[in-house]
Amino acid sequence: MANESIIEVKNLTKMFNKFTAVDGINFDVKKGEIFGLLGPNGAGKSTTLRMLSTLARPTKGTAIIGGFDITKNDNEVRKLIGIVSEKMIMYNRLTAKENLWFFGSLFNIPKDVLTKRIDELLELVQLTKWKNAQVGTFSTGMRQRMNVVRALLNLPQVLFLDEPTLGLDPQSSVEIREFIKKLNRENGTTVVITTHMMVDADLLCDRIAIVDHGRIVALDTSANLKKTISGADTTIISLEISNLSPELITALRGLNCVDAVTQENTLTLRIIVHGSEAFDSVIDKVRAMNGKISSMQNLQPSLEDVFLHITGHQVRDTADQKIPQEHKRFGASQQGRIR
Ligand SMILES: Nc1ncnc2c1ncn2[C@@H]1O[C@H](COP(=O)(O)OP(=O)(O)O)[C@@H](O)[C@H]1O
Ligand SMILES: [Mg+2]
Repeated sequence: MANESIIEVKNLTKMFNKFTAVDGINFDVKKGEIFGLLGPNGAGKSTTLRMLSTLARPTKGTAIIGGFDITKNDNEVRKLIGIVSEKMIMYNRLTAKENLWFFGSLFNIPKDVLTKRIDELLELVQLTKWKNAQVGTFSTGMRQRMNVVRALLNLPQVLFLDEPTLGLDPQSSVEIREFIKKLNRENGTTVVITTHMMVDADLLCDRIAIVDHGRIVALDTSANLKKTISGADTTIISLEISNLSPELITALRGLNCVDAVTQENTLTLRIIVHGSEAFDSVIDKVRAMNGKISSMQNLQPSLEDVFLHITGHQVRDTADQKIPQEHKRFGASQQGRIR
């Protein structure tokens, strides 16, 4: 049972006119797994989830969910799944319970079963106290929990969650993550989430597919993904320079042993390097530019480093935040593609 796949994604592709949003991806999700699609805005995560949940048709390829083909047996697939996405509608004037009644009636669930189920699910997300309150009065976190309850009304075997912590405060994010874990543990629900938050992927997912430009560029457990950095001859250095200048950053990026440089704060750089001479080369370069090193540390790789190492850019790279990376080892194939 443990290794049985509940989802098999085969060459799944979505094109919008000539633009390829999802580019022939392949992966399996095991029964009972929490699986994450991690990537920046525009990577194709939501489009993938929409295809898997039969809300959008693949241009090419398909996926098999619980034995059913999403392109041929979409009605069967829909019975097995629940989806939580940003664009879910709740009726503000209706109470929590009334909303769930409304959405529950869309499934063929007997009245008494539905009543009981709504109570249980509200208890599960700790909203019992608020069941007779209008949804319009709810916080973002409470609304998100309502969306999850709504997706669970048909007791799906697979729950798809599109950016479940987006726009939530840290406390609500923790609660949603805890809830997803509980649901997975207690009900055995298979969960597929998309996120651009490293912390979600790291704390929640059994396995993570890193998605960039519509492609899966890496897929493994968080620990194994990090090992791809620390296992190779790659190291991460944190370097504090008391007179840090843009020229120095550019010079460091120019070194052969340097894969990527990101600025952590005013004086501190996070540098991904490779090779046994890397430390010396970095120090020599800083000295040659009259930089004053106030501290230097060897860091454990984070998922962010893994992403940067593989793709050559940071995950939080919305247009205005994008930090250009000189990336020699992996970057070339990604350049010149439309974002
Ligand atoms: N309906 C659509 N029409 C045209 N382009 C779209 C449509 N939906 C998404 N896209 C484009 O496809 C790419 C992937 O989008 P999306 O799947 O929403 O990414 P993500 O969820 O990873 O941020 C983006 O470049 C987006 O602009
Ligand atoms: Mg999205």
